[in-house]
Amino acid sequence: MSENLSQSEMDYPFKLLEYLNGFKVSMAIFSACELGVFDLLSTSPCALSAQQVAQALRASVDGTERLLDALVGIEILHVESQPQDGTALYSSTEVASVYLAKGGAKSLHDLAIYRLETTYPLWNNLTDAVREGKNQFEKTFGTQHKEFFQAIYRTEEKMQKFMGFMKSSWMLDGHDVVTAFNLAGFQNIVDVGGSTGALAREIVKAYPSSSVTVFDLPAVVDMATKHFLLENNTLTFQSGDFFNDELPTADLYVLARILNDWPEEKCLKLLKRICDVCKPGGGVLLVQATLLESRRGPVHAQLSSLNMLVHTEGREHPPSKYTRMLQESGLRDVQLCRTGKYYDVILALR
Ligand SMILES: C[S@@+](CC[C@H](N)C(=O)[O-])C[C@H]1O[C@@H](n2cnc3c(N)ncnc32)[C@H](O)[C@@H]1O
Repeated sequence: MSENLSQSEMDYPFKLLEYLNGFKVSMAIFSACELGVFDLLSTSPCALSAQQVAQALRASVDGTERLLDALVGIEILHVESQPQDGTALYSSTEVASVYLAKGGAKSLHDLAIYRLETTYPLWNNLTDAVREGKNQFEKTFGTQHKEFFQAIYRTEEKMQKFMGFMKSSWMLDGHDVVTAFNLAGFQNIVDVGGSTGALAREIVKAYPSSSVTVFDLPAVVDMATKHFLLENNTLTFQSGDFFNDELPTADLYVLARILNDWPEEKCLKLLKRICDVCKPGGGVLLVQATLLESRRGPVHAQLSSLNMLVHTEGREHPPSKYTRMLQESGLRDVQLCRTGKYYDVILALR
């Protein structure tokens, strides 16, 4: 906060109150996603009353009306009064239809549901995570899995939801990320831990002559090819464990949101393994929400680092830390591109 802002906050702490209540905004959106409010309103030919919405969603009229009003207040829904009797009629905004209804090309519905079912309960144990310095999967979900991806993937349904959530980011940021550097010189590209192949598809769109392989755990590759494959698929999927199995040879290795999952020794192990198989002149592309060296932001990356604490064994880093790890693994000419959106890109050469 600037000096001026701090002074006006002393008179009445608007911003602080907004922060203290921020979770209520998130929860209202999550519940509406879970109930199907946005799916209903975005496909309805006309605006609907709270009673009609409640009936369609099998929810209470009173609860539905309060939820709809809150969504109007945060400008996610529109409301108009019916001229005859003043009944409130609710309709979807464009933002809600594009981003919060299920199934659209840019839908963030899976992200909202993952936040509701997994992230929010984990954050409920944030104090313990800070005290203990470790993730809270066991305490939150009673899973016996030591390794956090086993915990995230503890059922097929959970795996599919996590993968849907991962995919949604690249519908928004994918193009900026893959064009942050000109990758046209890299012919064979491997997206290491590439999940559904959503980012790999953005690479092929931007560089149609490249050939892209998605490398991920066997169960993830199975799920990706069963539920996330497009009709005109041009990607190759290869399954394996990136810490132990042979990695495909390539000119460029993409690691998107991978290093923030792991402690430094595992990051170095993975980077060194990649460096060993990467051809000279080839490269490694990191895609991460990077922290500012000054420690003053960006807030989304700082909150993501806390999120990594409750979820994983890793954390977010500033670019200097990634540079050090890349150089220690045998890579050079490290360059950073801040996209101005959620994810930044670091390119290093072999
Ligand atoms: C946080 S997700 C990122 C997914 C994708 N890169 C993206 O940004 O959307 C981490 C990915 O690493 C994969 N992964 C985790 N451990 C792995 C391992 N030992 N070998 C291969 N893939 C692994 C997970 O299955 C998951 O798809």
